Amino acid sequence: MTGGTHIVALIVAAGKGERAGGDLPKQYRMIGGQSVLAHAVDAFLRHPVIDEVQVVIGAGQDELYRTAIGDRPLQKPVIGGATRRESVQRGLGAIAKASHVLIHDAARPFVSGVVIDRLVAALDDRPGAIPALPVADTLARAGDALGDVVPRDGLVRVQTPQAFRFDAILAAHNVWPEGQDATDDAQIARAAGHAVAIVAGDPALDKITFGEDVMTAEDRLAARMISRTGLGFDVHAFSDGAELWLGGLRIDHPRGLAGHSDADVALHAITDALLGAVGDGDIGSHFPPSDAQWRGAASSRFVDHARDLIAARGGIIDHVDLTIICEAPKIGPHRDSIRARVAGLLRVPEARVSIKATTTERLGFTGRGEGIAAQAVATVRVPADL
Ligand code: CTP
Ligand code: MG
Repeated sequence: MTGGTHIVALIVAAGKGERAGGDLPKQYRMIGGQSVLAHAVDAFLRHPVIDEVQVVIGAGQDELYRTAIGDRPLQKPVIGGATRRESVQRGLGAIAKASHVLIHDAARPFVSGVVIDRLVAALDDRPGAIPALPVADTLARAGDALGDVVPRDGLVRVQTPQAFRFDAILAAHNVWPEGQDATDDAQIARAAGHAVAIVAGDPALDKITFGEDVMTAEDRLAARMISRTGLGFDVHAFSDGAELWLGGLRIDHPRGLAGHSDADVALHAITDALLGAVGDGDIGSHFPPSDAQWRGAASSRFVDHARDLIAARGGIIDHVDLTIICEAPKIGPHRDSIRARVAGLLRVPEARVSIKATTTERLGFTGRGEGIAAQAVATVRVPADL
């Protein structure tokens, strides 16, 4: 597709997930430590052709949404309707600007970049494009007519994302009879006379519908990921008159740390551990101290960068373990708030962050109170072919 496009991913996540059961609607269940919805969102965020991501959530799901999404850069969520079709229509109505839209079920967490590429390429010739797979199993009618086998020639299993020229699908939804349901958007586009291309789908795109599908998705993810470990270490000297930043928080203390940025020794160790886990240099190679733009910079930006770099490779941060080494300040009173802050920066639940502290029994430079050292270990899962 040539320039001048503005492609929006519209993810519908307003369902109740009744068939899947469980305590939470399925789009908020965790797979590999991220919600099903976050997996879908990240797949679009990391694809260069996608300009914006808009999510449709159910009424009363704001808190679940916030927890699942954190501070990912998305459009403000809109509230869906009683059916999937209504949710899509409300989502389309909230999009201010788009040349094309990819409409996707949150319940399909694994969207490969290749499928997005195929869909977008197909839009060059048609107003719509959908991914589909051949039907392999025998199909038969259940109930009284059991045994009445349905010929599967010409049948396909239709998946999402489904891609459309924005104006075409918006108009098609707006003329669709109120109250009539539709199971996908291609049906609505075709009813309005638009041709829809079929591109090759992906078994990994299968929808989570029943309880056991969550397990299958977990297995699917586990099978293509390997674990990597990174180690980070940093030291900064105390300096009078500086503020003390530790773990992304300003700590009340008579002395702060000297450094080019805010000298947050803990976040520097974490950043290096994350970079180490994906074998991508160190904090100095990404943010050279010679570059004036990092003077006084908040070190949270370094963590953001390392986290985004891992997400862009389809990685998952499983765990970060940090040790802060100093005589003072006492870390204990700040431990919980640092943990919450670091977990927020990493966009992982707090249970996957550990904050520890130790002194060096008054030995060495930390023992003499000349500075603070920090070390961190990050455990990250990355696609096996990385
Ligand atoms: N969906 C939606 N609004 C609805 C119903 C469904 O946004 N009123 C979304 C779901 O969140 C899901 C996708 O549409 O991402 C596909 O629907 P489905 O698999 O049927 O999900 P649920 O409706 O949540 O599940 P169930 O039908 O088992 O209750
Ligand atoms: Mg449903």
